Amino acid sequence: MKIAIIGTGYVGLVSGADFASRGHEVICVDIHEARIEGLKKGVMPISEVGLPELVAAGVRAGRLEFSTDSLSAIAEAEIVFCCVGTPLGEDGRADCAMIYEVARTFGRAITKPTVLVNKSTVPVGTAVKCEEIINNELKNRKIPDSRPDPFFSVVSNPEFLSQGTAVRDTANPSRLIIGSDDAWAIGQMESVNASFIAAGVPKVIMSRASAELAKCAANAFLATKISFINEIANLCEKVGANVDDIAASMGLDKRIGPAFLNAGIGYGGGCIPKDTAALIATGQDVGYEFKILPAVQAVNEAQRQILYTKLVEFMPERAGKRIAVWGLAFKPGTDDVRSAPSLQIVEKLLADGAEVIAYDPTAQKNAATLLPQLEFADSPVAAVKEADALLICTEWPEFAKLGLAGIAEVMRGKLVLDGRGVYRNGKRPDDVKYWTVGC
Ligand SMILES: NC(=O)c1ccc[n+]([C@@H]2O[C@H](COP(=O)([O-])OP(=O)(O)OC[C@H]3O[C@@H](n4cnc5c(N)ncnc54)[C@H](O)[C@@H]3O)[C@@H](O)[C@H]2O)c1
Repeated sequence: MKIAIIGTGYVGLVSGADFASRGHEVICVDIHEARIEGLKKGVMPISEVGLPELVAAGVRAGRLEFSTDSLSAIAEAEIVFCCVGTPLGEDGRADCAMIYEVARTFGRAITKPTVLVNKSTVPVGTAVKCEEIINNELKNRKIPDSRPDPFFSVVSNPEFLSQGTAVRDTANPSRLIIGSDDAWAIGQMESVNASFIAAGVPKVIMSRASAELAKCAANAFLATKISFINEIANLCEKVGANVDDIAASMGLDKRIGPAFLNAGIGYGGGCIPKDTAALIATGQDVGYEFKILPAVQAVNEAQRQILYTKLVEFMPERAGKRIAVWGLAFKPGTDDVRSAPSLQIVEKLLADGAEVIAYDPTAQKNAATLLPQLEFADSPVAAVKEADALLICTEWPEFAKLGLAGIAEVMRGKLVLDGRGVYRNGKRPDDVKYWTVGC
């Protein structure tokens, strides 16, 4: 099928490249001109394992193109995937301005029956609002009443990929949610997703409102799991238990499962915090006050402070001290620093007058745009050289491989505060002052 993808971020670019690999003709559109220019030259705007190869294969096969011209791309397409951002607005609600802009462009562009699919995470009612916007645009264009019927349909198709494993997740989705009650649009969705359905991916057809809510509910539940295990971790510290043993035993219970039970310094990123807040706001809009989710948020906020609070305990005077920070991305496998706990910590250290040297294998460029005064090292060992303390904010696998003994040898102070439990269960030299969450 002919597909237009609007937005070339984590969701749009990966989905577009994956659809191209399944034989569809795909054009990926973005308003960010430098991003599109880069993509035309093979430069990836985001870091995801396997993405450069997947994009290159699509381009080589002549099935994947890039453009800034959304009007032409939509006019040519049979199906349009909206993958633009829905950031957290100041009032705690998802800001859907970019979604509505795409709906307006869609209404201005279509010349034949076309489906608009919201892959972005949106609040309940967004599909209905998009429909109104498109109908207004069609009215302005004076499209004759004799146009084919249906002329367009808006479907909700939330995306569940995880950053860091986006290519693998997109190729092997856990479920295909089709939010629509329009038989034609459902048929188009089944055609474009035929290879997934043939491979046995569970297909769930539901109302648009249910599909819109399904995504926020899933992310809010993951937030709940993280805050829950973090509270257990805090209790472990007080009673001398080890949170990893407890998480492993909980995870073996099929009713619970092992995912999202890694105790640490809280969740971040562009999705889980935003979707949890958006769900609370949706409840408030209709007079329903969530009781669990505000507590989940409060636990997370407190957890994000823990590493800095511990450092203050060990090092009451931080001005002039050299502090190494390992990991800036909100989780391993991604270059994304949106709402990353690390940035909050680094800001406080810089305000204290500490000399901060950070290392992250992929996120340094993104962190530098937000914190230009931050210094970077080109390896984890270079970061800890002569450092008075090391703070670990992201559990990149390469950190665990280094071992604490070698690290401590090059440090001036021997203080290691491990926010992600990287060395929780490893051997630790006697002269290292070590603290971690949950033991
Ligand atoms: N990142 C994730 O892991 C993930 C997973 C599932 C769902 N989601 C949801 O998917 C949506 C997109 O997330 P993302 O992380 O890919 O966002 P992103 O910010 O990485 O990418 C969005 C892109 O859309 C572009 N854009 C904005 N307005 C545009 C317009 N009018 N026309 C063309 N391009 C436009 C931006 O320039 C940007 O490149 C969000 O709603 C997010 O919550 C994200």
